[in-house]
Amino acid sequence: MRILGIETSCDETAIAVLDIAGPRMRPRVRILANVIASQAELHAKFGGVVPHLAKREHQRNLVSVLLMALKEAGELKPKKRNQNQGLTAKNRILQAILDREPDLFARMVPEVTSRPAPKVDAIAVTVGPGLAPALWVGVNFARALAFLWGKPLIAVNHLEGHIYINLIPTAWRSGAFLPMPSFDFPALALIVSGGHTELVLMPAHDRYRIIGETLDDAAGEAFDKVAKMMGFGFPGGPIISRLAQSGDAEAFRFPRPMIGTANFDFSFSGLKTAVLYTIRGLKRLPPRTKRDIAASFERAVVDVLVAKAVRAASEHRVHTVLIGGGVAANRKLRDELGRALKKTMPGVHYLLPDVRLTGDNAIMIALAAYFHRHGRITWRGLEANANLRLRRSR
Ligand code: KG4
Ligand code: ZN
Repeated sequence: MRILGIETSCDETAIAVLDIAGPRMRPRVRILANVIASQAELHAKFGGVVPHLAKREHQRNLVSVLLMALKEAGELKPKKRNQNQGLTAKNRILQAILDREPDLFARMVPEVTSRPAPKVDAIAVTVGPGLAPALWVGVNFARALAFLWGKPLIAVNHLEGHIYINLIPTAWRSGAFLPMPSFDFPALALIVSGGHTELVLMPAHDRYRIIGETLDDAAGEAFDKVAKMMGFGFPGGPIISRLAQSGDAEAFRFPRPMIGTANFDFSFSGLKTAVLYTIRGLKRLPPRTKRDIAASFERAVVDVLVAKAVRAASEHRVHTVLIGGGVAANRKLRDELGRALKKTMPGVHYLLPDVRLTGDNAIMIALAAYFHRHGRITWRGLEANANLRLRRSR
């Protein structure tokens, strides 16, 4: 089965093509294409992602990202010479689908409608959560392709993608068939990104129950804000974690909010404020102090995430623990969670995503779509939902 995935929920325009074969629940996967156009540099100037600029950039980038992905997958067919009458009628429907994305429509006509459909069985697209204007571009582009090529659509939750990317082995390379590990259910996913911090219990594929989440800031957001307080750019997570490596994590004693509460919820705004007051109370902020603040802050965040994840894993007797989302790139978090699980639940299966794939990409969207048990729809029935949540299991 070949799935083309599309991701535009935030500031990456991404398209991937996967070839998935073998036993239904334990297949092998081949990454045929993985193209990402990042807008990070543009948004960095504004200190965060600007939704209408993200929409504009997705419109500008999607067609070239698609062409690159099809080329990588060996599926870029030459343009047909004779454009017939039927195409004009088709173009009118395409124009209606892309009514809100005229710039995308204009780029699509000369490059996409003039080529035969590629060999793919379905188109998977992120429908939420994310920035509404950004999501809609991807959703309407997917609808346009599904209409044009006569393919079914699969609607994917962005967070499912961050979970399923754990099934791509770290030694992956494009073009080779890779054996996938399996999720031994029940599984627990710790999702940590710029917009989300959630503990999700999975009793089976495609079934989710949120057992805890942040009551205020997301973990990645806290990293970004602390970086900003010290005058660093956006996104701040990678900067803070790099500084933390050479800092003293004992130098400042920051709070570990909600670490002892009986539930699995999180809160990071108090920690963020504590860092702010510390910085304000210092006369100077030399590089050495910045490194110590970064290390002490990172230690506090990791302590809370690890404590809650380990307790959730043991209380719910899970067989697999995995992490996903941008913050899953954090070395300290990866190592400390592994160490804590080894101590308290030595038999548990601990999966980690490849650090090249912890950020937003479309491999994760195509892969999550494969494990959906149902839900193929036509181009007419698809909508974006900026506040989409992982379904609760029955
Ligand atoms: O999943 P993602 O790429 O986008 C969202 O869906 O939000 O996550 C981005 C977040 C940002 O807040 C970024 O600062 C954070 O992930 N991040 C990190 C690291 N790398 C990225 N946070 C801590 N340590 C890192 N190494
Ligand atoms: Zn993400």
